[in-house]
Amino acid sequence: MRYSDELVEEIRLKNDIVDVIGGYVKLQRKGSSYFGLCPFHNEKSPSFSVSPGKQMYYCFGCGAGGNVFTFIMEYENYTFMEALKLLAERAGVELPELEYSKEAKEQADKKAVLLQMNKEAAKYYYVQLRTPAAKPAMDYLKGRGLTDETIQKFGLGFSDKFGNGLYRYLKEKNYSDELLHESGLFNVDEKHGMYDKFWNRVIYPIMDVNNKVIGFGGRVMGDGKPKYLNSPETKIFDKSRNLYGLNAARISRKRNLIICEGYMDVISMHQAGFNNAVASLGTALTSLQASLLKRYTEEVLIIYDSDGAGVKAALRAIPMLKGVGLSTKVVNLRPYKDPDEFIQHEGHDAFQQRLLEAENSFLYEIRMSEQNYDMKDPQGKTDFFHEVAARLLGFEDEIERNNYIDSVARVYGIESDTLRKLVNRLALKSVGIAEVRKPKSGINSTREKESASEKVQKLMLTWIVTYPFVMPDLEQFITPEDFTNTLYQRIARMIYDQAHQGQISPATLLNQFVDSEEQSRVAALFNAVIPLEADEGREKAFNDVICSMKENSISSQTAQLSPTDMVGLQKLMNDKKMLDTWKISGVPLHVSFE
Ligand code: GTP
Ligand code: MN
Repeated sequence: MRYSDELVEEIRLKNDIVDVIGGYVKLQRKGSSYFGLCPFHNEKSPSFSVSPGKQMYYCFGCGAGGNVFTFIMEYENYTFMEALKLLAERAGVELPELEYSKEAKEQADKKAVLLQMNKEAAKYYYVQLRTPAAKPAMDYLKGRGLTDETIQKFGLGFSDKFGNGLYRYLKEKNYSDELLHESGLFNVDEKHGMYDKFWNRVIYPIMDVNNKVIGFGGRVMGDGKPKYLNSPETKIFDKSRNLYGLNAARISRKRNLIICEGYMDVISMHQAGFNNAVASLGTALTSLQASLLKRYTEEVLIIYDSDGAGVKAALRAIPMLKGVGLSTKVVNLRPYKDPDEFIQHEGHDAFQQRLLEAENSFLYEIRMSEQNYDMKDPQGKTDFFHEVAARLLGFEDEIERNNYIDSVARVYGIESDTLRKLVNRLALKSVGIAEVRKPKSGINSTREKESASEKVQKLMLTWIVTYPFVMPDLEQFITPEDFTNTLYQRIARMIYDQAHQGQISPATLLNQFVDSEEQSRVAALFNAVIPLEADEGREKAFNDVICSMKENSISSQTAQLSPTDMVGLQKLMNDKKMLDTWKISGVPLHVSFE
């Protein structure tokens, strides 16, 4: 499944980067570039630059950079395909249908219709809430402390008392009964035919990460039962792989995400400024949701109800979150039941404080398991420490395990060494309920460290891109083969090709890399910063880059040279001689950086 390079490039060209980024970030012109506050890290003075000439962006503060596609991917947390679709739509470019099987296409069409229908339904409920008849609903929401802005932001709505308003509304839009039924928005029985599932309830539209309405929750206004009705699972509504509020939380740029239980909790937290809160959809957290969270963060704060059910849910959620490599903490809300209640009573600052005091999830787990033992009884206490030791065995990393041993020993007032011995003894017997812990997939650990030689190659690419006019001259001294790193060599070839065709465009080049890991490496590459020298300094600096690159290239070729390759040897010796003269009298360049 891939679109042609031409199409990708057309879409890029039709989306001017200054326009697109200007929609997200306030930009101000400074010389030939635009500057604004970087959306990828917190800063007070603008170091985020957008170049209309290069059609690229770069942040001098945090090093984020790329073209219009990577911006959308980074900002929206989209895949390349999703970013492409958004930008195609924005530019009015129609994407051709990719080759689907007949069934796949029918399914896709059906999903599209269901999404459309949900969007219409959300619109309908939204409008209803703003009619005079909805006064009790509006009063209810206001009574719970929601502002107009919040009601608006979450697209809250109302289903009236009549029970067939939505049905008639959608019927007028010519949807078939069969599809209406599949939407889950209606009930059917012999006596009444088809009628609205939700009536006389406030409506919470549920959106996926791309802001598409996939289902609804409807709450009684007061104490009736059931408190909530939720859309059933449909072709577009899978409760196990979506999270309420994630569409907003994922762009909150906070250092963690908060997972809670209720729609109202999410809304309350967002209103109070904790816009990184999400909730599961009326069911226990699933591992798919855990993976979804992992796409957007490294740390999750669990805020479940303070009652027994909440504790149980937290104890289920912790291994799931850890299982996908998330670090996890648990927030204590006592004496309040849930975040909404807490915030109503104690306000923003106290809530913030509770977040800061969140308890490490391992310590939480053992604190909870302590309650299963009679700690006043020597046997009970012994059994408890045996369980703790078994749990500690779950940490494969020795440093981590020792840190936890120290920490637990401190909390329970025993000697670290005693506990360590117990753990070791258990390890020898290889018993224990060792948790499965995946290695943390930190970006830096997978990325090999770049060598000095690679740095120079990267810098050379930056020079070429920044000063394309060096090209015809440079080609005589440095060829793509001098780039020893495979990725850089591939890029160099592309740039040299582009130069031959008359124009170097790094933003176009980025389109060639669909794999997001590669893409960000390439984007980073063009953002190696050239030390800002005076004009004559620049010539000298460029000269140095050429020499170092040649030197590295020569030594790499020498290492690979076959002992019988006389021609190769001769060439290398010539190159070496040439390099020596460059070092003394400079590379004979004819370019000027004035
Ligand atoms: P408020 O009571 O309005 O503050 O809502 P809440 O969001 O705090 O709800 P609560 O903590 O009671 O429940 C958490 C979540 O469980 C809700 O957001 C719903 O998704 C779900 N839920 C609660 N009650 C019901 C119910 O009666 N039926 C169904 N199907 N789901 C429910
Ligand atoms: Mn509540």
